[in-house]
Amino acid sequence: MEASDKKRNAAKAALEFIQPGMILGVGTGSTVDFLIEMLPVIRDKIDRVVSSSKASTKLLEEHGFEVATLNEVGDYDIYVDGADESNKRLQLIKGGGGALTREKILAAAARRFICIVDDSKLVGMLGKFPLPIEVLPMAQEMVSRRLVKMRGQPVWREGFITDNGNHILDVHDLQITNPLEMEARINRIPGVVTVGIFAERTADILLIGEDSGVREMRV
Ligand code: A5P
Repeated sequence: MEASDKKRNAAKAALEFIQPGMILGVGTGSTVDFLIEMLPVIRDKIDRVVSSSKASTKLLEEHGFEVATLNEVGDYDIYVDGADESNKRLQLIKGGGGALTREKILAAAARRFICIVDDSKLVGMLGKFPLPIEVLPMAQEMVSRRLVKMRGQPVWREGFITDNGNHILDVHDLQITNPLEMEARINRIPGVVTVGIFAERTADILLIGEDSGVREMRV
């Protein structure tokens, strides 16, 4: 089965978790795009929608949804998003699409976080996928030097500006043996806006699209 079919199946499985009257948070990426395309089917169930990126907002609006702000909805019911990697504890690497800051905020405000992936995303140890870090442009070089001291190889995602007007560093070769500790450590570097390790706020449920169907993992 193609990865795109596995992603579509995982997205479809997430629909089951959306109960009538819920406020839904929508992530970013190709897996979430499948979800957005299916959302009109359950439109009547959804009270309001919040979005993690300009790209997802645009797609939601194209499908007839009015997008609320997080300030309007406060803490809310359910966040559905993809990931670049997940380990068995449902700690994630996110930010391949560059939307990690708003994704982390929406994940933090949600009572339940459902992560939808194809089975290539499940790993033993996080870090093979280069770790995205959103940085203030003026701090980019300073943050890069700190990451090199941590034995990472930061690469500037040249030409890419986040929805918040910042830059992304993709850090190769990091040994993320302790995701919680690494997340906190990188967060402490001045100029870092968001690190793409989601270990403090993990997913609650991982829906994995596989050849045989969709497997569910919980923490
Ligand atoms: C967006 O910034 C990322 O966190 C995405 O969730 C991640 O890149 C997954 O993308 P795909 O669904 O396209 O694999």
